Amino acid sequence: MNESTGPTMRPYARQILFCNHGDCAAPAAAEALFQQAAQWNRDTGLNKLRNPHRVKCTLVDCLGVCQKGPIVAVYPDGVWYHSVDSAALARIYRQHIIGGRPVDDLIFHRLYPPGQEPAYAPKVRGDEPLAVDDLLAAADAATAVDTEIDESATNNDEANQRRQAARRNRLKKGLVIVNTGEGKGKTTAALGVMTRAWGRKMKVGVIQFLKHENARFGEIKAAERMGDIDWINTGDGWTWTSADMDETTARAHNAWSIAQDRIVNGGYDLFILDEFTYPLAYGWLDITEVLAWLEANKPPMLHLVITGRYAPQNLIDFADLVTEMREIKHPFSGQGIRAQPGIEY
Ligand code: FES
Repeated sequence: MNESTGPTMRPYARQILFCNHGDCAAPAAAEALFQQAAQWNRDTGLNKLRNPHRVKCTLVDCLGVCQKGPIVAVYPDGVWYHSVDSAALARIYRQHIIGGRPVDDLIFHRLYPPGQEPAYAPKVRGDEPLAVDDLLAAADAATAVDTEIDESATNNDEANQRRQAARRNRLKKGLVIVNTGEGKGKTTAALGVMTRAWGRKMKVGVIQFLKHENARFGEIKAAERMGDIDWINTGDGWTWTSADMDETTARAHNAWSIAQDRIVNGGYDLFILDEFTYPLAYGWLDITEVLAWLEANKPPMLHLVITGRYAPQNLIDFADLVTEMREIKHPFSGQGIRAQPGIEY
């Protein structure tokens, strides 16, 4: 073929391959990773056809590993990653795709010795220096806090400016939301958010740290009738007045390990840790370790809702949205009105 009359190459720098064959991991997990990387490409401009640093994301059939997935390969570097979740993908995208440094602790196979990978961008139409700082800033903005704007403040200049700035920056991130305080409604508010997310066909789940595993409260019955809601009760109704604190502490650790597994592997868009502040406030779980774990492992787009009284200050500092429920009047105290189905439980 005469090359002068043939098609012209549009170069791209890297290709990220996601196996969605299904034997190494659920196809939905690979597809969610693919969608996430494609979104970051759009957020950073690395999807543009004429960008010589363009990154292609591709769902592919079996890559021949078939275990410990999701399996993700980056070419032309020849670097293969395993057990990739959304937190790992964020590291790969930021450190490897943008920063040019493969993430060693996630790699299980390399085609070339480190430092001897082929040049990542073909100089078909001339290369441009990669504006790493700009791309990192764009990547950070893409996962930064979506500052929730108070709808009641629509006439407020400051609120309008923040809304416009948020839209301009297209800020999006999975939020950590804390409902705390002495007043009623912490769990109820969290379940309201869950209903909203469920209505948007988002994947939602709840783990309750205090409720008895056989509890049949109205909200649990509602979740069953709605369907598609994972609801986990981990306790036997234990409380901070429990006679056996070893048992209480063990139950808290067991519940937290279930929650950790669901947060990493559950594929949720929104997950509620109901009454999670109590094991933190009473020291059954180490708050510093819990926050460090969340920092390292919470999928970037997962919304996490935590409820309960006595939210520790470092949890409040860690969260994106904190609401304190304050009791002004209550039917029990002073009026002697009993708890009623459909209202309290
Ligand atoms: S099924 Fe994913 S590598 Fe084979």
